[in-house]
Amino acid sequence: MEKGSLLYEGKAKRVYKTDDEQIVWIEYKDSATAFNGEKKATIDGKGRLNNEITSLLFLKLHDAGIPSHFVKRLSETEQLVQKVDIVPLEVVVRNVAAGSFSKRLGVEEGKELSKPLVEFYLKDDALGDPLITDDHVEELKLATPEEVAQLKEKALTVNATLSSFFKELGIRLIDFKLEFGKNAAGELLLADEISPDTCRLWDAVTNEKFDKDVFRRDLGSLTDAYETILEKLGGPQHV
Ligand code: C5P
Repeated sequence: MEKGSLLYEGKAKRVYKTDDEQIVWIEYKDSATAFNGEKKATIDGKGRLNNEITSLLFLKLHDAGIPSHFVKRLSETEQLVQKVDIVPLEVVVRNVAAGSFSKRLGVEEGKELSKPLVEFYLKDDALGDPLITDDHVEELKLATPEEVAQLKEKALTVNATLSSFFKELGIRLIDFKLEFGKNAAGELLLADEISPDTCRLWDAVTNEKFDKDVFRRDLGSLTDAYETILEKLGGPQHV
């Protein structure tokens, strides 16, 4: 497969064309951003860690019968994925109160929720990615009611699979963000990445954080934290 011209550059990745119209080439960058881009840094090794971890988790989900855009890992920092039109929604699943949920609703961080919650945020940097309701999603024509139901169901299925997988590794999956997109056939597929940048991952015994909160809150070395997760997942795949 040939790497073509740059299609898009985001905060964490570059997307290139390939010689197959339905496949794009993703390169993970070493940049870290938080608080809607207000805090920025370059962290050597971050692109490699997120590419490796995302590749392993998408393979794990594939084995559990949950399809995604992931095609294959190409190198330490690159992967091939199906080209999709991203639905401009961030779908967040929460098992334990933390982050913006705790802040907005005054619920103590670390409190187990009575059931997993699904939230939608509008992907719009200028508006600060606001939390929106199902009715807003329909009003803005971001998804049909059937698609909203599908997004929730898929997000909860990913949660069940990843929560039990991480539990076996001694890690609690506190919350995470997913993105979905439509491929050329019109299928709604899990897309983007699943990594410590997009999940909260706490040690099951000590509650030590192994995710982007290490960067957001200056809690220590981000690469050490992400490396711990990659090692628990069994280390990098061999190409
Ligand atoms: O900040 P908040 O508590 O709403 O984040 C919930 C989850 O979604 C966290 O795991 C966070 O890392 C992830 N998230 C993300 N990208 C965003 C916002 C949140 O990956 N733009």
